[in-house]
Amino acid sequence: MPSAPDLIIRNARIPGGRVVDISIHEGRVKHVGAGVGGAERTIDAQGHLCLPGAIDMHVHMRGGARQSYKETWATGTMSAVAGGVTTVVDQPNTIPPLTGREPFRERVAEATSGSYCRFGINGAVTPDADLAGLWEEGALAFGETFAAPSSYGEAIGEDDLKICLEQLRGLDALVTIHCEDVRDGRDLNLAMHSELRSGTGEAAAVQKLCALLSAGPRSHFCHLSSDASVRAACTSFEVMPHHLFLSQELFAADDAHGKVNPPLRTEQERKALWSAWEKIPVIASDHAPHSDAEKSGLFEAAPAGLPGVETMVPLLLRAVYAGRCSLASVLQKVVMRPAAILRITPPAFTPGAPADFAIYPKEPEKISAEHLHSRAGWTPYEGMEGVFPRIVTCNGMVIYEQGQVMFGAGEWARGQGYKRSHEK
Ligand code: DOR
Ligand code: ZN
Repeated sequence: MPSAPDLIIRNARIPGGRVVDISIHEGRVKHVGAGVGGAERTIDAQGHLCLPGAIDMHVHMRGGARQSYKETWATGTMSAVAGGVTTVVDQPNTIPPLTGREPFRERVAEATSGSYCRFGINGAVTPDADLAGLWEEGALAFGETFAAPSSYGEAIGEDDLKICLEQLRGLDALVTIHCEDVRDGRDLNLAMHSELRSGTGEAAAVQKLCALLSAGPRSHFCHLSSDASVRAACTSFEVMPHHLFLSQELFAADDAHGKVNPPLRTEQERKALWSAWEKIPVIASDHAPHSDAEKSGLFEAAPAGLPGVETMVPLLLRAVYAGRCSLASVLQKVVMRPAAILRITPPAFTPGAPADFAIYPKEPEKISAEHLHSRAGWTPYEGMEGVFPRIVTCNGMVIYEQGQVMFGAGEWARGQGYKRSHEK
C-alpha cells in the first residue's frame, strides 16, 4: 500500500493560477492535484498564494566568537525563514576568513546546530586559501571574492586572483566576485560614498574582469548596482533589493544606516536599474547585519552593509502585487536561477522536489524592525510595505507558523567537490 503523506497543503494557489492540494512525504513533494486523505497534518491555504521557498545565494550569517553580537546562525536563519527564504548561502568573510579545512568544518558544525533552514557555505578566495581542501570539505561555491575591498574583506591582487581562478577552473567550481572601482578620498556621507565607489567605476571593473574570466571558471558577479554594470556583465550576476528599493535620498546625508558596498545610488540610478529588470538573472539580499550602535556612529568609521534577508521576498512580492513585475520573473530570480547556478535542486510543484514552500496572504504589511528576527534590530525599509509569509515549510516540515519559527529542518547543501571526494 502506498504510504500516507506527512503533510497536505490544501487549496493552495500556485504560480500560474491553479488551485491544488500538495501532498508531502519524507521531505519531498509526493503529489500535486486533488489531495488524498490520511495525512498527519493538513494545512488549509485557501485564499493564499503558495510559492517555492527562496534561495538567497548571498548572506553573511556572522556568528563565531567575534561577530555573534551582529547575528548568529539562529537569528539570521529565523530571519530568512520569516521572509520566505528556505536556503541561505553564507559568505566566507568571517573573522577569521574561511580559508582552510578546519575552520570550514567548524563553520559547518556551527551552522548545523544553529540553522533553521537549508544552508550552503562558500569558501574564501585569498592568496593563502586552500581551495582544493575547501572544495573537498563541501564548499558550495567560492566567494564573494573581494576584487575590491569591503567590510571584512581585503582585496585580492590581480596576480593572486589569476592563480586562484585557474585553480577553481580545474575544480569546476563556481566563483562569485565582488567587483568595484574604489577611489581614495574622504568618505563622509552617502553621496561621497557613492562617488568613491561609483556605478560607472563598477561597470569598468566588471568589464576588466570579464577579460580575465573568459577562460573560466564558472563565474557570477555579486551585487551589481547600476544599469551600466548590468550591460557590461559577461556572465551571471545578482542585483540586491536595496539597489532596487532604496536610494541615498531616503536617508539623512550622513546616516550610515544607508552605507553599503556597492553604495546606494541616486533615485535616478535606482530607476534605471529597474529598467534592466528583464536582464537580471538573480536577486539576492547581501544580508550584512551590523549593530545599530555601529551604524549610529561617524559615517566614515561605520561598517558597510544592511540587513535584508527577511524583507527581500516580501518587497518583491509587493512589487508583483502592484503590477511592477511578474511573479514568474521574481521566481526565476530567487528560486530557479540561483539553484541552477549553484547546482542544487530547487523546490517545485512536481513529485520528488524538495518540499520547501511559503504561503502568502493577499495583503501587504508595514515593514517594522519590531517584527523582524535579525539581531541587527533595525531595517532600512522601516515603514515600507512587504508581503510576508504566514506559513513556511522546509524539507516537508512546518518551520514557521503564527509568527513562530521552529527548529529541525536545517540541512547542509554540500558542493559537488564533497560528493566527488567522498564517493571515491
Ligand atoms: O556592504 C557590504 N557589507 N558589502 C560587502 O561586500 C561586505 C558586507 C559585510 O560583510 O558587511
Ligand atoms: Zn556580501
